[in-house]
Amino acid sequence: MEIEQSTVKKGLEMSGRLEGKVCVITGTGGSVGRATAHAFAREGAMVVGCDVDENSATATADSVHAAGGSMASLQPCNLTERADCTALVDLAVRTFGQIDVLFNLAAAASFGWLEDITDKEWDRDRRQEVDLVFYLTREAWPHLKASRGVVINMASLNASLSFKPLPSLAHTTNKAGIIGMTRQLAMEGREHGIRANSISPGVIETNATREQLEDPEWAEYMLGKTLLGRLGRPEEVASVAVFLASTESSYVTGIDIIVDGGMKVW
Ligand SMILES: NC(=O)c1ccc[n+]([C@@H]2O[C@H](COP(=O)([O-])OP(=O)(O)OC[C@H]3O[C@@H](n4cnc5c(N)ncnc54)[C@H](O)[C@@H]3O)[C@@H](O)[C@H]2O)c1
Repeated sequence: MEIEQSTVKKGLEMSGRLEGKVCVITGTGGSVGRATAHAFAREGAMVVGCDVDENSATATADSVHAAGGSMASLQPCNLTERADCTALVDLAVRTFGQIDVLFNLAAAASFGWLEDITDKEWDRDRRQEVDLVFYLTREAWPHLKASRGVVINMASLNASLSFKPLPSLAHTTNKAGIIGMTRQLAMEGREHGIRANSISPGVIETNATREQLEDPEWAEYMLGKTLLGRLGRPEEVASVAVFLASTESSYVTGIDIIVDGGMKVW
């Protein structure tokens, strides 16, 4: 199902940092995705969202419209299917005429220790963390070339740091792949005026982490590693994405920004 709506941005508190920009954000049914859709719309972006989960994606689009933002959305949209990537790019171009920013935010991680991971699980994690970024970026690339656009990829602190209680072999490997892919995209995109950067969050309180955070041992370990003494909020990742999407970051490309409340310090 598609939701196409472009509303007058009345009642929004805006400073217009993304005014006129068409921003494709994946995984807008999720916690960071929803916060990002709102943050981008508040800054004047025309947002194009999607999610494999129909209900949560629709709820995000409805809430952005209710706040006066401009957003189209495609759901269900499974980005591990190339046809769905094509459909998402088509929706963006048909609705708003161009793509200025692609934020590859959606991913689904699975966890297991080395000896327990089956071939099938290993393959699935790669498809749900890396392949979907490759498919959609390749599909959107001609439009990003035309707009001299921006790519933002969601990596993870886990790409460069291991946590004792977290069996994250596949997730670590694949998010490290995202950092590498981003650097290469920045290199390939330079001649077209395309910038590419990634974001590596530490532990953010979201749908994906909430259940695990109920385990007191795990929560205590993770909190103990956080210099600021608390977990991150989805909005605190979204605000970094706004910076990377806007011209404020015009001299920033090929890097990974860590948003972890200081977890890497000790
Ligand atoms: N929460 C954290 O602590 C944390 C830390 C580091 C990195 N991240 C990354 O941030 C991103 C968002 O995470 P979140 O915590 O908001 O999780 P979330 O589960 O709330 O959101 C992810 C969304 O992506 C969607 N999705 C997954 N696979 C998809 C596919 N194939 N096609 C379309 N949609 C798909 C899910 O349905 C979900 O709505 C992910 O890339 C995650 O790896 C999160």
